[in-house]
Amino acid sequence: MPRTPLPTSRPLSRREFIAGSASLAALALGGCTSATPRLARTPVPSEPFELGIASGDPRSDGVVLWTRLAPNPREVGAGMPPESFVVTWAVAEDEAMSRIVRSGTEIADPQWGHSVHAEVGGLRPDRWYWYRFTCGGEVSPTGRTRTLPPAGSSPERLRFAVANCQKWEPGYYTAYEYLVNENPDLVFHLGDYIYEKNSDSDGVRPHGQKEVKTLDDYRIRYGIYKSDPALQAAHAVAPWFVTWDDHEVNNDYAGAVSERLEVTQADFLVRRAAAYQAYYENMPLRRSAIPVGPDLRLHRRFDYGRLARFHILDTRQYRSDQLPGPRMQAFDGVPVDPNLTMLGAEQKSWLFDGLRNSPAAWNGIAQQVLMARIDLREGADALVDVDKWAGYEHERRELLRFFESARIRNPVVLTGDIHENWANELWNDFDRSEPTSVAVEFIATSISSSGDGVDKPVYLEDLLRENPCVKFHNEERGYLVCEVTPRQWRTDFKTVEYVSRRGAPQHTRASFVVESGDPHLHKV
Ligand SMILES: [Fe+2]
Repeated sequence: MPRTPLPTSRPLSRREFIAGSASLAALALGGCTSATPRLARTPVPSEPFELGIASGDPRSDGVVLWTRLAPNPREVGAGMPPESFVVTWAVAEDEAMSRIVRSGTEIADPQWGHSVHAEVGGLRPDRWYWYRFTCGGEVSPTGRTRTLPPAGSSPERLRFAVANCQKWEPGYYTAYEYLVNENPDLVFHLGDYIYEKNSDSDGVRPHGQKEVKTLDDYRIRYGIYKSDPALQAAHAVAPWFVTWDDHEVNNDYAGAVSERLEVTQADFLVRRAAAYQAYYENMPLRRSAIPVGPDLRLHRRFDYGRLARFHILDTRQYRSDQLPGPRMQAFDGVPVDPNLTMLGAEQKSWLFDGLRNSPAAWNGIAQQVLMARIDLREGADALVDVDKWAGYEHERRELLRFFESARIRNPVVLTGDIHENWANELWNDFDRSEPTSVAVEFIATSISSSGDGVDKPVYLEDLLRENPCVKFHNEERGYLVCEVTPRQWRTDFKTVEYVSRRGAPQHTRASFVVESGDPHLHKV
């Protein structure tokens, strides 16, 4: 939906925000567990593990284990009494959970939606583990997870999957059923884990809930999505690194600015705080991501030995508002304005530092929105989407030229958001007649959003002719599998034929390799 900015897009200070919201001030002061939790006197309701289990943000010596007690996820309170419950976790070296190496307890507190985030340490690097939870007499499913290789080590290989955009209504998560069989070491989720609105048509499975705006609403929305067995199975197969896009809060929001003109920044930050809290509650994130009011630090990085460093970005929370006017604008009219930021000053300098100091052979950037400049109109004058990096042209040029000037080793950008598969070369200067490719971008299509797709859309030939940086494009649903070795990065585009019915066949529609030291795409 086209949007125009509010007269001022200055984010509120923390003080202004808290002054405007007494209820959230209380929220901001809350901890993950209260100092003296009021432990339940009532027994835990039966089947509290309806949302499954997950693990995430592994390190060499540990990982986060997640669950949320929710016997009735579609109800306010998820069927749990408003009391705290003790949840026990265990980590084992075997799937049968017979050789337990670590165990502990956490408090599932109603203030945090009865979620559990156990930060496990003391594990050995670079190996598989299994884990599960118990609460009362109830036992969760068992999940598999993996620690990262030791710092400074030289892994031979990393295999991971990339997923995003899993709108509930238009289709089934068949892609996740296939992803489970890919045996990934880890999974990236690049956002749109939930969608806050309802579609015009119910699709194959309606949300059964109006647009979500409050903490109770968002909690139920996550409950609906996380009840899907294929999604639960994908979480149970490997640790995930998650980041968000816009729909975890509100379509096309930017910083403190809502999609809708009439919503004040103070009101929007109240909504953002609710959405961010529900996100934290439902994701396998570390305590460093505990939200404080309307703020949640999500950008982070990790090293897979010296093979790969990954930066996981947040391109929504700190960005300047989108340019006024329609989403699609003539590129000539887009200002190259250093005051327009996608990352915000702190995240940008953190990213540049992390790239500059990287010891790794490959530098992955897991983020949300299209980075290549794609011209969506035939002819000389380019038409671009200003919600993407194209609307923040100064910062895009800065980053792409930094790849070149700082001699960053093998940058690879992983993108979501647009429900299409793309393989793009990223050029140091999209205006120059003979640009140099300085990085590559792989865009993972949606798991289900936009419904059934097509392999070759009618505009494909025009798109490829107009954009020589694009080496592949496809409009089906699916995910990526990437396999990285010291010498080569390979990406497979895995798709399913349809999502409006179950049981779709799968295809590998294209595979590309990038050789170390040569930022070009080679079709396999
Ligand atoms: Fe999406």
